[in-house]
Amino acid sequence: MITSIFRYFSVLLFVGLSFSCQTKQNQNNELENETTIADSAMVVSARKEASKIGLEIMKKGGNAFDAMVATEMALAVCYPFAGNLGGGGFMVYRTNDGETGALDYREKAPISATKTMYLDENGNPDSELSRVGSLAIGVPGTIAGMFKVNEKFGTLPMSELLQPTIDLAKNGFVVTSGQADMLNQFQTTFLEVNKDSILYSRQFNPGDTVRNRALAKTLERISQNGISEFYGGETGSILVDFISNYGGIISLEDLNKYEAVWRSPVKIAYKELNVISMPPPSSGGVVLGQILKMIEGYDLNALGHNSSKYIQLLTEAERRAYADRSFYLGDPDFVSVPQDSLLSDDYLKFRMQDFSFETATHSEEIEHGKIIGFESDETTHYSIVDQFGNAIAATTTLNGAYGSKLFVNELGFFLNNEMDDFSAKPGVPNMFGLIGAEANSIAPEKRMLSSMTPTIVEKNGKFWMSVGTPGGSTIITSVLQTILNVYEFDKSMQEAVNAPRFHHQWLPDEIVFETKGFESDLLDSLRGKEYKVIQQESRILGKVDAILRLSNGTLEGGADYRGDDTAVGF
Ligand code: DON
Repeated sequence: MITSIFRYFSVLLFVGLSFSCQTKQNQNNELENETTIADSAMVVSARKEASKIGLEIMKKGGNAFDAMVATEMALAVCYPFAGNLGGGGFMVYRTNDGETGALDYREKAPISATKTMYLDENGNPDSELSRVGSLAIGVPGTIAGMFKVNEKFGTLPMSELLQPTIDLAKNGFVVTSGQADMLNQFQTTFLEVNKDSILYSRQFNPGDTVRNRALAKTLERISQNGISEFYGGETGSILVDFISNYGGIISLEDLNKYEAVWRSPVKIAYKELNVISMPPPSSGGVVLGQILKMIEGYDLNALGHNSSKYIQLLTEAERRAYADRSFYLGDPDFVSVPQDSLLSDDYLKFRMQDFSFETATHSEEIEHGKIIGFESDETTHYSIVDQFGNAIAATTTLNGAYGSKLFVNELGFFLNNEMDDFSAKPGVPNMFGLIGAEANSIAPEKRMLSSMTPTIVEKNGKFWMSVGTPGGSTIITSVLQTILNVYEFDKSMQEAVNAPRFHHQWLPDEIVFETKGFESDLLDSLRGKEYKVIQQESRILGKVDAILRLSNGTLEGGADYRGDDTAVGF
């Protein structure tokens, strides 16, 4: 499993190193993106085409929510790796008058799903079933999410927001070198899983144009007929027939019953910052909040950016927070998540009381905290700020690269493999090495626990940053480091995104480092304190896209050089 995650991220690195249009080499021969500054509005996403489509909507007078719909749909065309109609996501917003909220358009387990559906006769999970093909698919939430946003905040009709994407699908998008390489690596799998050729089952060269007429038609029908087209109309019927032909269990009733849900975001006060992030069924906000509260009492700047002590402190806080994630977190519509207790100052102080800079705590000695008594390896993220001062952070996913690998030829999109985010059996890791418990067991219509962490940060009560990233379990720690890079270490937004990252998640008991940016002396000093250090070739962590409001009121983009990510603004 480790190898496959490694391979997966290696490919991502290749994508990033070679082909981001703004990428340059700095004095230390390190690759990074150049800074993008805009006066009033900005989109940062995984693809130039999608960022531009979102920006055009705002140029026409649309707001950040309108731009969100346009950007997310465009990503479904030009970034099939993760952009989707067949997956789901989360969005956190802050309006220009300070109202905040969160939208959950996460996939759900089908009605006929069962707790033991991925277990073989010996009771062991069959990870192929939850990762590849029809049984891996959760009921898609993306289209419901787009309509929910439009209904509450949209200023332009859906038809107008979908049109640029319909045109993009018809006219085609140009495959980048990284994309070609990635698609070519999946050729055998596509053919095996689909038992047929699909739009993407051919050799790709950089510069090829891909026209997705089936997706254009699907979007045209949605544009004409509205949300019910996907969740009950012709598109819904084609989808259900397709899934059932491949032995899947998603029914028309599943589609009919699906709803995106507005949720109250997690809010964490950290020094002058107010961090607003995704609540369950994502673990992102709670885990990010726990880590921030556990490290708040330390002078991080004095410890030094990416110093041995800084890495130790973050690792130890992460160890404790991810142990809690594993036990307590799940879909709040099904399990009671003790969110307030998990985020309480007293509880988190208690969790860190056995931390020492002398030596590592070992994960086997750490389990989830006892809260009684303290009651007092694909995803993509984009950030948008509009000319009116509204901001959104949205992360959307098919889970693995191209999801379940099942591609609905007639509709023009891939289907997710989000079911793998459930805990198929307590104690057995999923694709990201994450271990879960009863709180995240499978049940009909339940949402699987996520790590996606779309986050908005206020500074002194005003919008300051919109940030997020893909990366499975590493999402939370990448978002954390990006915020700290700017706030504690005075880096610019782009520098904060460029900076090398590390990751720890309780189990496995190891710290994973990006290949570049960490000297061997540093890693040796951590080894000397009993930390297991992992640094493989071509390893990256996340692809962070972010926007920062600078003190002069302008916006600075942070587009990750690790992908084809692009910031555009006006
Ligand atoms: O929801 C989650 O946490 C995962 N399905 C996200 C997957 C992901 O980020 C893959 N990208 N690298």
